[in-house]
Amino acid sequence: MTTPHAATAAELLSTPEAWADMVRWHQLMGEIRRDVPVVRLEPEGFLPFYAVLRYADVAAIERDADLWLNTTFSVLGLEADKQRLIDSGLPLPRTLVHLDGVDHRDHRQVANDWFKPGSVKKRQARIDEIADSYIDRMRELGGECDFARDIAQPFTLRVIMEIFGVPDSDEPLMLELTQGMFGAADPEFMGDVGDPGEVLMNSIMKFIEYFNAITTDRQQNPSDDLATVIANGEPGGCPMGDAERLWYYIIIATAGHDTTSYGLAGGVEALLHNQDQLWDLRGDDSLAETAALEAIRWTAPVRHFMRYATRDTEVAGVPVGEGERVLLCYPSANRDETVFDEPDRFDVRRPNADRLLSFGGGTHYCLGSQFARREIRTMLSRLAARLESIEQSGPAEWSHSYFVSGVKHLPVTYRFR
Ligand code: HEM
Repeated sequence: MTTPHAATAAELLSTPEAWADMVRWHQLMGEIRRDVPVVRLEPEGFLPFYAVLRYADVAAIERDADLWLNTTFSVLGLEADKQRLIDSGLPLPRTLVHLDGVDHRDHRQVANDWFKPGSVKKRQARIDEIADSYIDRMRELGGECDFARDIAQPFTLRVIMEIFGVPDSDEPLMLELTQGMFGAADPEFMGDVGDPGEVLMNSIMKFIEYFNAITTDRQQNPSDDLATVIANGEPGGCPMGDAERLWYYIIIATAGHDTTSYGLAGGVEALLHNQDQLWDLRGDDSLAETAALEAIRWTAPVRHFMRYATRDTEVAGVPVGEGERVLLCYPSANRDETVFDEPDRFDVRRPNADRLLSFGGGTHYCLGSQFARREIRTMLSRLAARLESIEQSGPAEWSHSYFVSGVKHLPVTYRFR
């Protein structure tokens, strides 16, 4: 059965280009969400799925890890690309996101301590230094830059690569491979290849080569970095499998920066249109924390994850059969007007900004959320304190991807105080 909204919802959720115009996206998706909570879709080339659009339903599914499993295919993708990956013999995704039950719990335990609020807090001084080095970079650029490309992206990349133990000389490679993984359909990230499925496979192959060398090195020469913890990790007391180890590295190396970079750049883009809110951040650290949460609610850079029903059930009255799958639509849930007052207004004082669903929920709740919040908060408050003025000097551009996407170019002109 198809609903009247199916064609529009399918276009919005499964076409990479639809994510390049977020004003249109939110306007159309808002109309659908207010009308129907769940839409069954079967876009050409994809297996069918139910798009879950409202806050309460996304949150309830996130909380029930017995009824809803993640499985190996937790991200929407073309069947042809999936088949090509299976046929290639490359290790299929086994990141934390793709694991369930005890397996997931034991693997998450391996790196968990590094991401706890107390551990992340200890890194604040270093996050401040890295933020300052990129603010200095803005000064060097002489009053004009692409904030997304020149500042947000390298800043968030450096923070995570430093704890990971990847030298800064390898950062361009990490960036290229991440964009191949998350934004494979964006023409700007495709290079000469021209086929998103191939870009994705090339990225996986290069990651394998890179991280195999890291494993050998960290097993022979353990260091005090996160790569050493993963190389020698023993989930449930047993050595980690090769596929799980590889994908552990990959999720930290990828999820750790593109997401946060899009949250920061998209937050700055919103603040440029709400200048009074930007200047209110000067000297008010607690407001900067709410502003960071609001930026992450507003941008929702992870566009979805999938869940699979372990038995016949229903979502908001719509029957979902055993083995069928739902798409948790975070950007839509974050604009649900039954939870967020005037959800399409950016508000650094939003009283319930901390109810955002951008980090998911339940057992898979984003491992790196504390880093993301601190990085964005730190950059916003330091920028507000030092800048005298900042203006957008050209159109912002969003990347084309229905998995992880956001502002990839944000031309600005500015003066320091
Ligand atoms: C604004 C930035 C970020 C956003 C919006 C974001 C979003 C998400 C979402 C939606 C999930 C899945 C949650 C679920 O299924 O319930 C997730 C999981 C995860 N994130 Fe993030 N993330 C961000 C930053 C980070 C950072 C900085 C790291 C650091 C390495 C990170 C590492 C992870 C990992 C390892 C998982 C898997 C957790 C699990 O399945 O147990 N993320 N993230």
